[in-house]
Amino acid sequence: MNPADEYTVRPARRFGGVLRVPGDKSISHRALILGALAVGRTTIRGLAPGADCRSTIRCLSALGAGISGSPGPDATVWHVEGLGLGGLRPPPGPLDAGNSGTTARFLLGVLAGHPFSATIVGDESLSRRPMRRVAEPLTLMGARIATTAGCLPATVTGGRLRAVTCEMAIASAQVKSAVLLAGLHADGVTVVVEPQQTRDHTERALSAFGAEVTVEPPRVSVRGGAALAAADLTVPGDLSSAAFWAAAAAGVPGASVTIEGVGLNPSRTSFLRMLGRMGARVDVRIDDGQGFEPSGTVTVSHAELGHADVRPHEVPGLIDELPALAALATHGGGLAVTGAGELRVKESDRIAALVAGLRALGADAQEAADGFVITGGRRLPGGVAYAVGDHRLAMAFAIAALGADGPSLIRGAASVAVSYPGFFDTLERLCA
Ligand code: S3P
Repeated sequence: MNPADEYTVRPARRFGGVLRVPGDKSISHRALILGALAVGRTTIRGLAPGADCRSTIRCLSALGAGISGSPGPDATVWHVEGLGLGGLRPPPGPLDAGNSGTTARFLLGVLAGHPFSATIVGDESLSRRPMRRVAEPLTLMGARIATTAGCLPATVTGGRLRAVTCEMAIASAQVKSAVLLAGLHADGVTVVVEPQQTRDHTERALSAFGAEVTVEPPRVSVRGGAALAAADLTVPGDLSSAAFWAAAAAGVPGASVTIEGVGLNPSRTSFLRMLGRMGARVDVRIDDGQGFEPSGTVTVSHAELGHADVRPHEVPGLIDELPALAALATHGGGLAVTGAGELRVKESDRIAALVAGLRALGADAQEAADGFVITGGRRLPGGVAYAVGDHRLAMAFAIAALGADGPSLIRGAASVAVSYPGFFDTLERLCA
């Protein structure tokens, strides 16, 4: 194994500081894609720097959108020259979505409305993830989509779409967004009915670009055919990245961390409430002068931890933060999660790989069909945990390892570059 893909984490003697985290990955994908579909030049400040958003940039560039980035005073500023609705061009070859499920699913939705064929491919992990959940509603709208046994590679042949009402079987912001993106190109009003509320970044971004979008939970509607106007957007820090530092501060005795400029969209903040339920001290201050997405400062400090349960209805609101919560549970009180079967179709089977990695560090962790149980109350000895190419697992294992008695080795550590390229440098700074 490449030594750069391994990282040794030592037990934390201290942890804390004040920091900002990279831009929100979910919001960045939406800003880039809607920028490419708008008329004029969109400016995006604070774009997520990870490999996933690079995948979206690469694919949109291959579809003819002009995308350029330049370093700004404290974040990177990007410009997108939009081609207008339906204005993307046939790509010269397959579109490589890399490790990014959001890129693949959103592009299927966008390309459903374009009158040409394009093939989307992905890395080994993405090629195992389900695409039928998106292909089926898009097919009802009139697109032709040929998947490979329900997965990538998938070839989409788009064209004129009809507006539909889509009753979603699973709570997935990615599926909702793919249908809404296709709906922009359809005749009439496309409606998505969600079984449970999921993150609403697409709805907010659509409004910011001037689309006619209506939210009446559990229904979200968008009118097709109206031009989008270029926008000037600032992407807040990614709460899902901040979650790892918040979990570390909650777990390490005496620790406290303050994260500034972090996204506080209410459809993403269940994690902070859960930290409080586990016993941590959490202080949230919302910034004044909000843009299209709220942001603020979050301070999390250590306190005596207790056991917590995550119930099925809570899962969509903290799906990406479950690895961080599991890591925190190994520092103290424990955690039981049910109704989280979706974790099995993320960048890895996050139930199996999370439990295996935490056990390898010495945790008492048990797998269930749709969740897991971590029994707290004992310190980890430390060990060798394998992140199986999954960025959130690499970060979760590192945070668990801070509370161990001895050093731990994280294998597959380079995967953090998917969402948080500087993660290990920041970890060292916060432990120094
Ligand atoms: C995302 C939605 C979630 C999340 C993923 C990003 C998004 O996936 O896990 O990391 O940006 O819409 P699902 O909506 O498929 O659960």
